[in-house]
Amino acid sequence: MALWDQWVEAALSKLASRSLLRSTRPISLSPTPSIDGLETFDGPRHFDRSSVEVDMDECTFSQWLSELPNLGGETRGKDKNVSRKLLLFSGNDYMGLSFHPSLRKAAAKAAQEHGMGPRGSALVCGYTNYHQLLEKSLAELKMKEDCLLCPTGFAANLAFMSALGSISSLLSINGKPSQDARIAIFSDALNHASIIDGIRLVERLQEAKVFVYKHGDMVHLNTLLSGCKIEKKVVITDTLFSMDGDFAPIADLVNLRKKHNFLLAVDDAHSMLVCGKNGGGILEEYGCESDVDICIGTLSKAVGCQGGFIACSNKWKQLVQSRGRSFIFSTSLPVPVVAACHAALFVARKEKWRQIAIWNRVHEFNVLTQMNITSPIISLVIGSEKAALSASRHMLQSGFHITAIRPPTVPPNSCRLRITLSASHSFDDVKRLVSALSRWFSFPAVGDNAQIASKL
Ligand SMILES: Cc1ncc(COP(=O)(O)O)c(C=O)c1O
Repeated sequence: MALWDQWVEAALSKLASRSLLRSTRPISLSPTPSIDGLETFDGPRHFDRSSVEVDMDECTFSQWLSELPNLGGETRGKDKNVSRKLLLFSGNDYMGLSFHPSLRKAAAKAAQEHGMGPRGSALVCGYTNYHQLLEKSLAELKMKEDCLLCPTGFAANLAFMSALGSISSLLSINGKPSQDARIAIFSDALNHASIIDGIRLVERLQEAKVFVYKHGDMVHLNTLLSGCKIEKKVVITDTLFSMDGDFAPIADLVNLRKKHNFLLAVDDAHSMLVCGKNGGGILEEYGCESDVDICIGTLSKAVGCQGGFIACSNKWKQLVQSRGRSFIFSTSLPVPVVAACHAALFVARKEKWRQIAIWNRVHEFNVLTQMNITSPIISLVIGSEKAALSASRHMLQSGFHITAIRPPTVPPNSCRLRITLSASHSFDDVKRLVSALSRWFSFPAVGDNAQIASKL
């Protein structure tokens, strides 16, 4: 991306000339994080149940039920008698790592040795050799030159966007970019709220013009790109869409990038560790890491912890460090969390069975329901808010923690149950889920035991 490299370099020179370039200086904590003594396992253990089984006190449970409309009549038991132990099918802990003993041990050790609060933002005093090591590991996993940790995935998207927008201001004569000197941002219609908010920010500062293309529609995107006179073009998309469970057409995006020379930025929040032989996400699966310029991620989903990051080139990192406001003006990640993330990457690398298990659950769900889901995110679109809430009530009563997703998270009348599978779920959990769902939805294959058995 020669042109984008030039623009980023020019922006960095401008910042340098105004003494506005910023960089982190790691505080050395000793002992350094280590994988010594971290246990790994060759299959699910009792702790895996903790990441998919939750308790809820009777009062909260009854209150929740009372807030949900009951369209389908009582299906099982009475509210007062239902179990408060719920099987969780609504989290994002896809690999089931949040309760792993090695993550807990790493966090506890770091807390004992180095305390909790990082004391400040990364640029002031909150950046340590722990943060540096995690950035290095993430850059390696994502096959990028470098990486920048952010407080959350939301903050990572905002930081990238504000740094991106700053390019057009920095390169304009009086800080106010002309119409054509702005950045043209092309964004998938179903991108995550943090991308949308980041875009709104730069649009408001008049640093960017925004084009929203129909979800996954490469013909529409191509038309918009072809008709746009602005030189600095950026396409941004989720890789695995959080509410619909479908993948962005990565190979087509890579081809369009060759044609239109845009900067390609992806938010890989949901496919990291879930996809790719080494857990590098969907870009690894397609072998197209070098065709994507910016890879934004989160540590709060499959990594089972908390935090966000931007994997990118050294130069982009310098720019985001210097201009990304949600990075600059927010306290950095606590050291125990960083240590746990580091342990999670180690465990995910060793416990290959987790990735196999989650895709087995996807397969089993498909066989049991004759649906054709392509990821661990299952989106059962119901329609009205009332009907979706009622479906969620039915599932809650049947012992499943599944929430109805409503506007503004999804468009009106596409309210749904969002169900997520995890490596910590068992086949039996999926069977119980499908059985409960089938009292509400009509799946073609449920009950056709002989046919199902032959496919499992
Ligand atoms: C696609 C996507 N990006 C970013 C985020 C935000 O990540 P975090 O929860 O770490 O702030 C989410 C969380 O739901 C997401 O789904």
